Amino acid sequence: MTPQQRITELRELLHKHNYSYYVLNSPTISDFEFDAMLRELQQLELEHPEMYDPSSPTQRVGSDITREFTQVAHRYPMLSLGNTYSKEEVADFYERVRRALNEDFEVCCELKFDGTSISLTYVGGKLQQAVTRGDGEKGDDVTANARTIRTIPLQLSGSYPQEFEIRGEVLMPWGVFDKLNAEREAAGEPLFANPRNAAAGTLKLQDPSVVAKRSLDAYLYYLLGENLPHDGHYENLTAAREWGFKISDTTRKCRTLEEIFEFIDTMEVKRKELPFATDGIVLKVNSQRQQKHLGYTAKSPRWAIAYKFKAEQAATRLNDVTYQVGRTGVVTPVANLDAVQLSGTVVRRASLHNADIIEKLDLHIGDTVFVEKGGEIIPKITGVDLDMRLLVGDKVRFIERCPECGTLLVRVEGEAAHYCPNETGCPPQIKGRIAHFVSREAMNIDSIGPETIELMFGLGLIKNVADLYSLNASDLMFLPRMGIKSAENIITGIRSSLGIPFERVLYALGIRYVGVTVAKRLARAFNNVDALMQATTDELVAVDDIGERIAGSVYGYFSKEENRVLVERLRAAGVQMGIAPEVLLERTDVLKGQSIVISGVFARHSRDEYKAMIEKNGGKNVGSVSKATSFILAGDNMGPAKLEKAAKLGVRIVGEDEFLSMLALQE
Ligand code: IVH
Repeated sequence: MTPQQRITELRELLHKHNYSYYVLNSPTISDFEFDAMLRELQQLELEHPEMYDPSSPTQRVGSDITREFTQVAHRYPMLSLGNTYSKEEVADFYERVRRALNEDFEVCCELKFDGTSISLTYVGGKLQQAVTRGDGEKGDDVTANARTIRTIPLQLSGSYPQEFEIRGEVLMPWGVFDKLNAEREAAGEPLFANPRNAAAGTLKLQDPSVVAKRSLDAYLYYLLGENLPHDGHYENLTAAREWGFKISDTTRKCRTLEEIFEFIDTMEVKRKELPFATDGIVLKVNSQRQQKHLGYTAKSPRWAIAYKFKAEQAATRLNDVTYQVGRTGVVTPVANLDAVQLSGTVVRRASLHNADIIEKLDLHIGDTVFVEKGGEIIPKITGVDLDMRLLVGDKVRFIERCPECGTLLVRVEGEAAHYCPNETGCPPQIKGRIAHFVSREAMNIDSIGPETIELMFGLGLIKNVADLYSLNASDLMFLPRMGIKSAENIITGIRSSLGIPFERVLYALGIRYVGVTVAKRLARAFNNVDALMQATTDELVAVDDIGERIAGSVYGYFSKEENRVLVERLRAAGVQMGIAPEVLLERTDVLKGQSIVISGVFARHSRDEYKAMIEKNGGKNVGSVSKATSFILAGDNMGPAKLEKAAKLGVRIVGEDEFLSMLALQE
């Protein structure tokens, strides 16, 4: 099946399942399977922009709802803001407000944080619930994830209202974002385009412990409730700061249009020094009494408006196009430019993504091109200034051979990317695979960095990952900038990687499409590498979460002689090629075929421990209650929405002790 056919097939299937779920209220597949299909489609659509279709199931506008979280209705809808792009429009807003109020008023000026919005409910000073924006009417309950964000207080101090909501933006600071993307690049995983996507993606992860590691931040900017202490929005925010919330200290109250413009001018400059992304300014009429008087349109308040910063653009000369080969052999064209200043940094290079984009821009060497940095890390070329095209050079044509090893490139029918097929002989692919193998989530040999790999590969000490296990300290100690101590460190690191469990070894091999989760699934389904190597694609597809694309890639990997030899060499060195017998012994089938929702607060074990117990005993942990749910493992304070749904669908509630005795684990 071509990727195009698969896209069409997935779209049809997902439309059908959406209908059974939302309209008929009787899902025919699990949420997990649904989400796996949706993700596969998203990935394929990303790889095939030519297949864009506004009616694809991935394109449901303005909604960030996923199926694995419980949905919660917002008590007050989460509205958006009207956008303006010029000071004239800001002046129009100010004038509209002035006329409608016909009395003095203040405007609270704030930064527009470029993250993902969240609504927090506090009762009795405790965080009760955190919900994403969703479609504005209802969003996902991401409380467990929000609890991991250190700037969201779990317990307030001072004198706060008994019950209120506070809204704000969850952000991923630039530093965290850059580090995360560097790790993803080393692991061969797709990069996040900007901190906004990274923050939104992180908040929707199913595992709060991973969320916790990503160091998200949260700024709050809007209070709602019956008993707020002040009429002024600014004054309420100031009070909220005392209760423990993170409120930006850049916020200002202005009276005149001049003061507002001054704020805008200051922030256009200052925002470039901030550790997180902002995309504009928000202006709010300060008094809630006056806000009420001004009211709302269908979509947004009349008392507030956003002024968006312009995406900075610069024109510069295209000098040439070079090509980079990644770990998986994908060849990316890079534009080399005359240095130009853009959003506070000097830009010399821009990504051109693939051959289609070059063709679409009809690029010629010497062209004057426009570069933009709209939120993305790597600047992109958005167009060519045709008026400047007087004396240009050659038309840019995508290369035919790999710039690193000379092999003829291949382009899979219908795919945008060109690949170098010389997996075992092309240097950047070999070095990239080694870097992936030693990375943190794989074999975690942190004593080996990219420079060491470069050195060892350059000198012919290692040609593949199995060679690492034949190294001695004496092979390394004479390398530049290395002493006996670092050499021994490296060897110790390699030795300790022999304890890394099989599922991570499987991930470390760097099989295309086998990320951390897929590796886990495969390891648990086949227990050891021999069973996996013998699996047919049908047997692979029968595993949860594994589609044809992944199955084909795994099957293809193990059909190659050189990969089988590599596995044997790693096994001989002592690398784990199966799940440890003691882990296997602990596993049971007690919960086989059961879909279990975990809800509430537990006394005997943590939520993560229960999750692990379910998986170890053959069950499946799912996020939301449906007809297919076998039972709910419920602690204290189970959410009322879940209780109601369970009662309606007749799903059984199982308490902590009952669950433990099911597993005969009760102390
Ligand atoms: S106030 C009714 N203040 O922008 C007004 N929103 O287009 C509610 N945002 O969904 C929003 N910074 O995610 C407000 N200082 C700020 C903001 C802000 C960022 C986001 C927020 C909202 C969107 C509105």
